[in-house]
Amino acid sequence: MSMMWFIVLVAAATVAAQPKAGCPTTCGDLHIPYPFGTTQGCYKDEDFFINCDTSSAKPIANYSTTTIQVLDISLHGQLRLAGWLSWDCYNSNADHSWSFFWIRLGQFAISNTNNKFVVVGCDTYAFIDDFWGRRFTTGCTSICKSLDDVINATCSGIGCCYSSFPKGNMGYNVTLKSYNNHSQVLDFNPCSYGFVVEDGAYTFSSLDLINLRQRNDFPVVIDWGIGDENCSQATKNTTTYACMDNTVCVDSESAPGYFCTCKDGFQGNPYLSGSDGCQDIDECSNRTSNLCSQTCHNLYGTYTCSCLPGYKGNGFKNETGCVLEDKSNGFPVMQVALGITVSLLLLGIFISSLCWVQRKRKLIIIKKKFFEQNGGMLLQEQLSERIGYNDMAKLFSEEELKAATDNFHESKILGRGGQGTVYKGTLPDKRVVAIKKSRIADQNQVKDFINEVLLLSRINHRNVVKLLGCCLETEVPLLVYEYIPNNTLLHHIDPSMKLSCLPWKTRLRIAAETAGAISYLHSAASIPIIHRDIKSSNILLDHNYIAKVSDFGASRLVPLDQTQITTLVQGTLGYLDPEYLQTSQLTEKSDVYSFGVVLLELLTGKKVVEVNRPEEDRNLAMYFVSSMKKDRLFEVLDSRVVDEKNVGQLREVAILASRCIRVKGEERPTMKEVSMELEGLIAKEKHPWDGKNTNSEENEHLLGQIYGTGSGSTSNSMGFESMRNQVTFEMESGR
Ligand SMILES: *[C@@H]1O[C@H](CO)[C@@H](O)[C@H](O)[C@H]1NC(C)=O
Ligand SMILES: *[C@@H]1O[C@H](CO)[C@@H](O)[C@H](O)[C@H]1NC(C)=O
Ligand SMILES: *[C@@H]1O[C@H](CO)[C@@H](O)[C@H](O)[C@H]1NC(C)=O
Ligand SMILES: *[C@@H]1O[C@H](CO)[C@@H](O)[C@H](O)[C@H]1NC(C)=O
Ligand SMILES: *[C@@H]1O[C@H](CO)[C@@H](O)[C@H](O)[C@H]1NC(C)=O
Ligand SMILES: *[C@@H]1O[C@H](CO)[C@@H](O)[C@H](O)[C@H]1NC(C)=O
Ligand SMILES: *[C@@H]1O[C@H](CO)[C@@H](O)[C@H](O)[C@H]1NC(C)=O
Ligand SMILES: *[C@@H]1O[C@H](CO)[C@@H](O)[C@H](O)[C@H]1NC(C)=O
Repeated sequence: MSMMWFIVLVAAATVAAQPKAGCPTTCGDLHIPYPFGTTQGCYKDEDFFINCDTSSAKPIANYSTTTIQVLDISLHGQLRLAGWLSWDCYNSNADHSWSFFWIRLGQFAISNTNNKFVVVGCDTYAFIDDFWGRRFTTGCTSICKSLDDVINATCSGIGCCYSSFPKGNMGYNVTLKSYNNHSQVLDFNPCSYGFVVEDGAYTFSSLDLINLRQRNDFPVVIDWGIGDENCSQATKNTTTYACMDNTVCVDSESAPGYFCTCKDGFQGNPYLSGSDGCQDIDECSNRTSNLCSQTCHNLYGTYTCSCLPGYKGNGFKNETGCVLEDKSNGFPVMQVALGITVSLLLLGIFISSLCWVQRKRKLIIIKKKFFEQNGGMLLQEQLSERIGYNDMAKLFSEEELKAATDNFHESKILGRGGQGTVYKGTLPDKRVVAIKKSRIADQNQVKDFINEVLLLSRINHRNVVKLLGCCLETEVPLLVYEYIPNNTLLHHIDPSMKLSCLPWKTRLRIAAETAGAISYLHSAASIPIIHRDIKSSNILLDHNYIAKVSDFGASRLVPLDQTQITTLVQGTLGYLDPEYLQTSQLTEKSDVYSFGVVLLELLTGKKVVEVNRPEEDRNLAMYFVSSMKKDRLFEVLDSRVVDEKNVGQLREVAILASRCIRVKGEERPTMKEVSMELEGLIAKEKHPWDGKNTNSEENEHLLGQIYGTGSGSTSNSMGFESMRNQVTFEMESGR
């Protein structure tokens, strides 16, 4: 055990009003100004004695009679001493050695605003107090269980804590304690440490828990003062007052007494008289500060500036400086010119802002007009009636869609069609969408348009492109669809597009998916929808070549009490139902015809209208029918897909297609029938035992593999779905 302490005794005031001549003012690198001094007669009193130890190569300045090193002396009432550490170290035998520090200063005080009491340790609580009548006791607790818990540079009670202490302490006494003799943390923290240190000068590190004992460079800030009277008392006794000429008295921050500083405009040592004391600063000789713009005149304690003849202003650079005098009869040309310019500018700004407001207002009115014209009111009404419906169409603002498409930039165009231009856009939520600027701006169609928007936004079929919403603030309505990345079916079957050729199996699946979607539109949706523009370029493909029927711009709703409606004939040449063309009577069978043509495209890979074919064969439907009649089917089939295995299927699809393109609508099958037939073909291929070869071994094998053996592919996929759900569920409940 050991105990370490320092005491500074206050010596009887041996007042030296001024140091003797030739006093050393340095100790090594340290500058030592009076009232501090190193030799007898050179310091004001014992409190200001600095013991310069020159025994080693590098002189050490010790404070007074202690072994505490002085780091820095400021004439502004402060000095820094090298910190001293208290420690308390344990070993595995629960023995401990310790060194607690306490200090009493004579007249000086430990600065409470510039220092903190810091404690480092993992099984530590520590106090700091003063002795004189126990004016205060304060401290903190620092605990940690492992090195992983501590945070570097954070002193918040885990490995490190700190506390402040009150003002006016002329000493302190540190005590360190442990809860468990560091027995739990011995391997990484055998010691507790406590020390007072200048605020900001110590940064805690986990390494300090292992060893801090070597450190003795923590600065501690001490407030010092002359005597024990404050300025108002001290200035009264001119025989003892320490401040010399051209000085001001300042009360010490926390110690008794005062210190002195030079007045503004003077520099030097305020405790000295004569040439070392506070002397006038010649501001004019300082080229770096350069305070006047033309001529500078140094005065006692200050300076003044003036301007040369022909210039005006006060000459102070920080104020008006010097400017050339105006000779033009005192008429302030500059000011007037400036005034006019400024007024014109203001007027301009005012007018343009007026115009801007006007334009903005006009724009709002236009937007509102378009909104109403495009049926925005109607849509809003409908929307509010159906609140709670999840997949409701969203009303996008024009700004939103402009932002999404770079203001409808050319580079964002995905395609141009009969119904409008399609842009690719990215919504703020990162969803990629296709935005169609439709062409309809016909007042009469508004109601239907709104109905369609509402209806389509609610169609949730995996093979129909989803409508996300629309924007009605523009002259033509904008429709926002989900973005389908893999081009149209046409791109993938037309050899001239030079894209990879779709295998027959995929073509058949796409046909079935498309037929399913149209069938759904015709029958399953709440109000039948006739697409009116089924064609391969309106069937989009996603990453997995899943078909998505798109472009309902021409679509018509069929009121429930009607099976046909009369419209202006509209559609695409080659796909257009000839009966509808003749009668203008639109029925669901028109879509069947168009779909039949799509089937022909899938079968033949040929263009729907081909000018290079003989005149009677230009139209693919007519060409196909005549080929079938002549029993030359295999001459028109796409040679890229025909192989031994699928000839049967190709023939069946060809027969189905030719039924779809019958001239009389009545004779065509319904979309539902077409869809079921195609599904049936796919299912038959999947389960060949349904047909001819019934091999019992294979049968068992397939039964074991495929869950459920429904005849349609739909029931199969549902079986998988529910089986998968069950597995998921079991996995979750198992945990
Ligand atoms: C000054 O302090 C140092 C420790 O900081 C000590 O080693 C040295 O002996 C002291 N010198 C005097 C003259 O007290
Ligand atoms: C410092 O404090 C401890 C206990 O808090 C006490 O035992 C010790 O005597 C004090 N030291 C001095 C010099 O007063
Ligand atoms: C700490 O060690 C002391 C003896 O050095 C012993 O009296 C005390 O019981 C120990 N405390 C704990 C918590 O181990
Ligand atoms: C703290 O910093 C020291 C290096 O300064 C590093 O070695 C130590 O791993 C750090 N501790 C933590 C807990 O980050
Ligand atoms: C100076 O000290 C006297 C006596 O202690 C006190 O009355 C006075 O208020 C003090 N003045 C200032 C400015 O603190
Ligand atoms: C000034 O201080 C000196 C020395 O302490 C003392 O002798 C003297 O009486 C004081 N004068 C006044 C006016 O207080
Ligand atoms: C000159 O002025 C600059 C800026 O005011 C100041 O930092 C510098 O100490 C001055 N130099 C002298 C020699 O006074
Ligand atoms: C400019 O400097 C002069 C001299 O230092 C000072 O008196 C004056 O207040 C300053 N003016 C401003 C506007 O800072």
